[in-house]
Order: sequence, then structure tokens, then C-alpha cells
Amino acid sequence: MSDKKSAIGVFDSGLGGLTAIKQLKKILPNEHFIYFGDTGRVPYGTRSFETVLQYADDDMRFLMDFNIKAAVVACGTVSAIALPKLKEKFPLPIIGAINPASCTAAQVSKTKNIAVFATQATINRKAFDEELKKLDGGISVYPVACPMFVPLIEAGYIDKNCAVTRLIAAEYLEQIKDKNIDTLILGCTHYPIIKELIGDVATEVLGREIEIIDSGLEAARATKEILIKLGLQNNCEDEGSVRYFVSDETQNFKTTASIFLGEPAENVTKVSIG
Ligand code: DGL
Repeated sequence: MSDKKSAIGVFDSGLGGLTAIKQLKKILPNEHFIYFGDTGRVPYGTRSFETVLQYADDDMRFLMDFNIKAAVVACGTVSAIALPKLKEKFPLPIIGAINPASCTAAQVSKTKNIAVFATQATINRKAFDEELKKLDGGISVYPVACPMFVPLIEAGYIDKNCAVTRLIAAEYLEQIKDKNIDTLILGCTHYPIIKELIGDVATEVLGREIEIIDSGLEAARATKEILIKLGLQNNCEDEGSVRYFVSDETQNFKTTASIFLGEPAENVTKVSIG
């Protein structure tokens, strides 16, 4: 049986879930986290519905072995496709990445024109469109699939001045140029790793600043709320910890993770999955 002191499981196809981890560590400093990044099988966002369901199931099973008290699906694609199935199957609180980001976007947008950047699978599933319309029927949603971002981020092309990533960002932003959007949801948890770059290029392409919603950060905030609501917060004063597991070699993950987290990603272990 898990209890308040048990760890929280967090997973993604690769580095993306670190956008949730970075915030979770800040807002829940006494909690222990087990992170799984399926780096051997990334990307998920270009795969079929059935494959993503299978991978999501493998990832959850891996985390369940750590006797976790809650799970954060820090992956837009898995949240869009598999969240209801995971909730049916695994008996613990499971927090996804779609609803928290949509709630914040619906609150902050004034023009009610909201763009969503996400993987092809998430866009095909219309997950954000449905969630946003449920929250406010007056919202117009402008979805853009951004398949180039995940490979660039996984390969470490994350510097704000990286020319190739800026070029790709401009290409995607051109698609929403005339939609009068004031809010952009980064609906794939990888994308907030280059949030500053996207914001900067958005100002250039759109000619004004827009609100950018980080789905990893919003999932982290929702996790804290749910732990409090369910009385599951770890009350222990000791500092929390993170153990990282990946399904491919550890070096690339360590390097990019350390740059993004602003501290060394220690404790990274390679495991086999599926
Ligand atoms: N970070 C993930 C997401 O939020 C997965 C991206 C991918 O693997 O294609 O969608």
C-alpha cells in the first residue's frame, strides 16, 4: 500500500516531462519523484492510437512497481489518447496535461482565440479543442501540429538563439499569424523547454506579445491541488528527491536535462521497457 511518504510517478516519451518535474520540485519540495522517460521509443506523437495506448500502459506498469501514490502523465500525447483508459485501469490519482493547461488558457485569453501547438497525434485527437470548448463555448481554437520540435529538443537544439529551431518555430507561427490569437498553449510537454525561444519568435512573427501556457507547469500545479484535496501531501520536512529512468542510453538525457533543469540530473538509470 502506498502512503503519504510514497513517491509520485511522472512519465513522458522522453525529456518533455522534465517541464513538469522542474515545477514539481519547486512547488512540492518534500516529495519524492520517480521519472520515466521512454527515450528508446520517443517520439510518441507520430505513432498510431493503439501504439500510444500500449506504450502508456507499459510506462504506468513500470512506475507502479515503485508503489507510487499518484501519477502525472506529463505527456500531452498520452494524456490526449490514453488518460481515460489509464484512469480505468490503475487505482490511484492520475493527473494529465490537457485539462490544467486548457483551464488556465480559458481564464487568461481575452480575444478567446487560442492557438495550440502539439504533436500530430494530439491534434488529430482534438483533445484541446474539446476541452477548451467544454470550458467556454465562445472560444475559437487554432491547432498546429509541430512534428519537428520533439526531435530538435531531444537532440539538444534548445538554446534560445539556435537558428534551426527558430526557423522551425517561425514556420509554425506563420500558420496562426492572422487569427488574432492572444494565447498559445504549448500542448506537448517538450515544447516548454524552448518556451523562451517560441515567445521571442512569436513576438517577431505576430508583431505583439502573447500569453504562452506551459502544459508541464500547469500539470504540476494541478498535482499539488489534488494531493492537498486528497490529503496525500508528504508532511515530512526532509528534502525530496528525483530518480530518473530512461529506456535508452543515459548520456544525452543527462546533458539536455541538466541544461534545462539548471542543475545536474543525477541518478539516471537505463531500464528496458515493454
Ligand atoms: N512530450 C510529449 C507530449 O507532450 C511527447 C512528444 C512525442 O513523443 O512526440 O506530447
